[in-house]
Amino acid sequence: PDVFRRELVDVQGIPLFWSIAEHWAQVASFEAQPDDLLISTYPKSGTTWISEILDLIYNNGDAEKCQRDAIYKRVPFMELIIPGFSNGVEQLKNMPSPRLMKTHLPVQLLPSSFWKYNCKMIYMARNAKDVAVSYYYFHQMAKMHPEPGTWEEFLDKFVAGKVSFGSWYDHVKGWWEKRKDYRILYLFYEDMKEDPKSEIQKLLQFLEKDLSEEAVNKILYHSSFNVMKQNPHANYTTLTKEEMDHSVSPFMRKGISGDWKNQFTVAQYERFEKDYEEKMKNSTLKFRSEI
Ligand code: PPS
Repeated sequence: PDVFRRELVDVQGIPLFWSIAEHWAQVASFEAQPDDLLISTYPKSGTTWISEILDLIYNNGDAEKCQRDAIYKRVPFMELIIPGFSNGVEQLKNMPSPRLMKTHLPVQLLPSSFWKYNCKMIYMARNAKDVAVSYYYFHQMAKMHPEPGTWEEFLDKFVAGKVSFGSWYDHVKGWWEKRKDYRILYLFYEDMKEDPKSEIQKLLQFLEKDLSEEAVNKILYHSSFNVMKQNPHANYTTLTKEEMDHSVSPFMRKGISGDWKNQFTVAQYERFEKDYEEKMKNSTLKFRSEI
């Protein structure tokens, strides 16, 4: 049990899983292709949701085709290398194009071939407090992370950026800046929750793709939280218990906005907000809760 839990290792100032750090040269030299579509997120921001939506779009709403394999096979995690379990770089070498893939890397660590080919990218951001809560439960069930400690201890680490993939604040701001110069569609989890249909229309427009009303409705249904939670090809239950233990906390946990209200104390909230304002004041990026 807990074979993966090890301390994070620094790569260019960003704490990463030890196994990614050990194989960093292989990640950095990843060969993108011009028709790759990259899904980029800070962890726990709706990666799996947007991945399922995009695979459904690529398959014109045909849910049966999207049952061909688990989400982590259909949309490989590019930089995840855990010897004996996963190698995103190798997986992608054997995948026919056009490829879908995901990354959690901060913008400055993205392999340069993505910029060279000007690949289309979709970034999804989620509000910081909900991400912190979701990440805390994920640390308990997904065994490649270091032990999170208590909620209070974890929250301190999150705020300090001492968690895997580094600072949430730098991540969302870094990708926000980059969208000015590259083909990056920047979306928000909260918008997708509120009006998934119009967000799917944005995706179709960005991909220059037309789908029938019927296909869009199928996509909406099959990417809804309750359907994905029951879908073994979307909910990560096909991994081993050594990798993820859903009895500790399911991967498809709640799927709502504002769950932080059930987790933060008033004191934690006040401290968090003060620090947040300081860290975000130099950016035009605004999340709904601030508007
Ligand atoms: S990971 O491990 O970083 O790839 O995780 P990620 O997929 O980014 O985030 C997991 C959270 O997204 C929620 N989720 C959804 N919300 C709404 N609708 C759908 N269809 C959906 N699918 C996944 C999932 O429940 C996690 O959030 P929490 O708040 O923990 O429930």
